[in-house]
Amino acid sequence: MPGFGSLEGVTVVYSAIEIAAPTAAALMAEWGANVIWIENTRVGDSMRDTAFIKEVERRNQRSVCLNPFKPGGREAFLKLIEKADIFIESSKGPVYKNRGLTDELLWEHNPELVITHVSGYGQYGEDVRVNRAAYDRTVQAYMGYLSQNGTPEQPMAPGPYVADYFTALMVTSSSLAALYRAKRTGTGESIDCAMHETLLRVGAYYMVDYLNAGVEYPRPGPRNQNLCAIGEYECADGWVSIICYGAPQNKYLLETIGLGHLWGTEEYPDGTTALWRDGPQAEAIEKALGDYLRTQKVADVERDFTAQAIAAGEMLEIRDLEAQEHFQLREDFIEWETHEGKTVKGVNIFPKFARRPGTIWRPMPALGQDTADVLTAAGVSPEELEALQEQGIVRLGD
Ligand code: COA
Repeated sequence: MPGFGSLEGVTVVYSAIEIAAPTAAALMAEWGANVIWIENTRVGDSMRDTAFIKEVERRNQRSVCLNPFKPGGREAFLKLIEKADIFIESSKGPVYKNRGLTDELLWEHNPELVITHVSGYGQYGEDVRVNRAAYDRTVQAYMGYLSQNGTPEQPMAPGPYVADYFTALMVTSSSLAALYRAKRTGTGESIDCAMHETLLRVGAYYMVDYLNAGVEYPRPGPRNQNLCAIGEYECADGWVSIICYGAPQNKYLLETIGLGHLWGTEEYPDGTTALWRDGPQAEAIEKALGDYLRTQKVADVERDFTAQAIAAGEMLEIRDLEAQEHFQLREDFIEWETHEGKTVKGVNIFPKFARRPGTIWRPMPALGQDTADVLTAAGVSPEELEALQEQGIVRLGD
C-alpha cells in the first residue's frame, strides 16, 4: 500500500454490510487508512450484489473472509485487532458482546483500540428494539424523520439512503475524534452509534419547535415548513430550486413578483429577513411567486436571482452532471479499473485535501482476496490458516 493521505499509518478493521458502517471505513480508506474489510464466510457482504456502487464503497480495501465467532476465527480476529487502531462493527444490537467478544476483551489485546458499534437502535435500551434488524427507511420511520418529508397525504423517505449515509459520517467523525484522544492518552474508546440517534441529531431542526412550543408543521411537500419562497418551483422550461432569505432579497422578490407594495408596510416592515409561512400575506406571496416563475425560463431566473444574492439554481438531472464545466474543472467524476480489468466510472475522492490528497490505490478486492496475506501478516501461521480454511472459518480468494 502506498503511503498517502491524512490517515496514513492508521489501520481500520470493520465487519459490517451495505452502507452505514462500511462507508465510514470507505472514507477513511480514501484518506489513506489501511482498511481491512471482514466479510461473512457464508455469503460475503451483500453490497457485492450491486452492479457499480460497490466499486466506490469498497475501493482501497482488503477483503478478509473470516468468521470471528467460531473458535480459531476468534483468535485470528483478535490478532487483527492487536494491530488495529479502529474497529467498526454493525449488527442487530450487542451481538459482539453476546458472543463473548466484549470491549474489555478487545482492550486486553489492544488498550488503545477505538471500538465503534453501529446498530439501528443502540447497544442497550428496550430489548425488542435493540435486537432488531434495521435499514435506512425503517430507522427514518421510527424516529420522526420520514414523517417530516412528503406531502400531507403521503409521507416519503428522502433518498438515497440518507439514514445510512448520515450514520456513516457520524461513525467517521466519532471514530476519528476518539482516535485523536486515544493516541494522546493511550486509552481506547467504545462508541455506541445508533442509527436512530444519528437521525435525531441531524433531524432536530423542527423537532425542537415541538419540544419547546408544541409546534407541529404539516408535511411541506416541495416547499419549506415555515418560510415562503423556499422550494422547488416550476418554470416555463424546467424546475428551479430557490431559497430566498434576507431583507434585500425579500424586497427584490416581492417587487419582482408584483407585490412590491407589501414592502415597508406594517405587515412586512423594511428589513424583514424572513417571509414566514404563517405571515399575513404568505398565501398571496406563494401564489404570486408560483405564477411569476411559470412564465419565466430557468436560466433567466437563475441569473436574475443570483445577481440579487438569492440562492437559486436549475434542478439538474443525474444525466446533466458530467457536462457541467464546474464538475469537469474539479474532476468530480473519475474512472478506474476494477479487479476484473473493467473500467468503472464513479465519484472522485472528497473533500480535496491540499497537502495530503486521497488517492485510489486499488479497486474493490474479490471476496477473500486478502485473507491469506492479511492474516499471515497478523501472525496466523500457514498451518493454522489451512486448518481454518478446512473448517470453513476462513475463505481464501480464488
Ligand atoms: N462470518 C460469519 N458470520 C457472520 C460474520 C462473519 N464475518 N459477521 C456476521 N455474521 C453473522 C451475524 O452474527 C448474523 O448471525 P445471526 O443471524 O445468528 O444473528 C449473520 O451472520 C447475519 O448477520 P448480519 O450481517 O447482521 O446480516 P442480517 O441480514 O441478519 O442483518 C442488518 C443485516 C444490516 C439488518 C443488521 O446487521 C443490522 O441491523 N445492522 C445494524 C444497522 C445497519 O447497519 N443497517 C444497514 C444500514 S446500510
